[in-house]
Amino acid sequence: EKGGYDHFMIKEIFEQPRSIADSMRGRLRAEDAHLQLGGLEAYLDKLAETERIVIVACGTSWHAGLVAEYLFEELARINVEVEYASEFRYRNPVIGENDIVIAISQSGETADTLAAIELAKSKGAIIFGVCNVVGSSIARATHAGAYTHAGPEIGVASTKAFTAQVTVLTLMAIATARRKGAIQEETYGHLLTELECIPSKVTQVFENATRIKEIAFIFTYARNFIYLGRGLNFPVALEGALKLKEISYIHAEGYPAAEMKHGPIALIDEDMPVVFLATKDSSYEKIVSNIQEVKARKGRVIAIITEGDTLIPPMVDFVIEVPATHEILTPLLSVIPLQLLSYYVAVMRGRNVDQPRNLAKSVTVE
Ligand code: F6R
Repeated sequence: EKGGYDHFMIKEIFEQPRSIADSMRGRLRAEDAHLQLGGLEAYLDKLAETERIVIVACGTSWHAGLVAEYLFEELARINVEVEYASEFRYRNPVIGENDIVIAISQSGETADTLAAIELAKSKGAIIFGVCNVVGSSIARATHAGAYTHAGPEIGVASTKAFTAQVTVLTLMAIATARRKGAIQEETYGHLLTELECIPSKVTQVFENATRIKEIAFIFTYARNFIYLGRGLNFPVALEGALKLKEISYIHAEGYPAAEMKHGPIALIDEDMPVVFLATKDSSYEKIVSNIQEVKARKGRVIAIITEGDTLIPPMVDFVIEVPATHEILTPLLSVIPLQLLSYYVAVMRGRNVDQPRNLAKSVTVE
């Protein structure tokens, strides 16, 4: 059932070209500029008209929500708030009939997310679900939604569900932007074409697996890790740190790179591995300066860079390349090496990768 792999997690990581493609199948066709999410059609005007979207989720799904915040703001110019479901449900949130809530959940059974939905619904908000499990409690509690088609995810650490969520949320943001007239034809066409290329680009990232394994070997016994990114790569930094924590039990923190100098930079010394998300996007130059700041304090830098980058490699200790894509789609590629890094470190430490201590696949109690 693990298809020849040692663990479900690695099988699921390697399934991503397929799971991302499945999450787009029947919804997107670049050749005739077709983009349609059946479940959303009836609500697309409402999405295009809304002034605010509130996203509720937990854990990795919350990170997908943070990516979606950038997507909806950037493409559709809609104000987005991303809430931990567990916080949202116990506050007295300002939410009403004019708001649209997007609930993101792989399992569709997370108790806090379900309770957040019920609360928002009771105040009149429209609720969309982005779930992986058909007929799950959350899928049933929502007004409409779009399933991710990642297939069953067995490893406790979420991998293919995350990229499927980001894929579906990207489609939603583009469809909303289009309905709103907020996106130029050219950008729209380019995004659809680039989306179709993502599965094969993910496969290209896998060519680095051996190199990532070597890096994992070098840092197997590190006690801490810092992950830094900006813009769309900030949530990816959070996700990379979470993956490492949950399966290897190494303390790891993700930060927006610019926040470094407001405190965490005090942690940097020659024993601190720092993973930089340093792809060629609009924050590239800023990230390069952040790398210099870390190197000046002797931190050991592992940089995720865009293929062909010649500036960063001589500045850092290790690089892992990902193919170039449209900036908006970066997280779908930059998260892959981080999943692999955490997997190999955990395996080298002899951890129970698929069932890490203290964790359950679906958190049905609060
Ligand atoms: C991390 C992980 C958890 C889940 C969280 C929400 O790898 O799996 O953080 O993302 O428990 O679960 P769902 O998405 O099922 O609501």
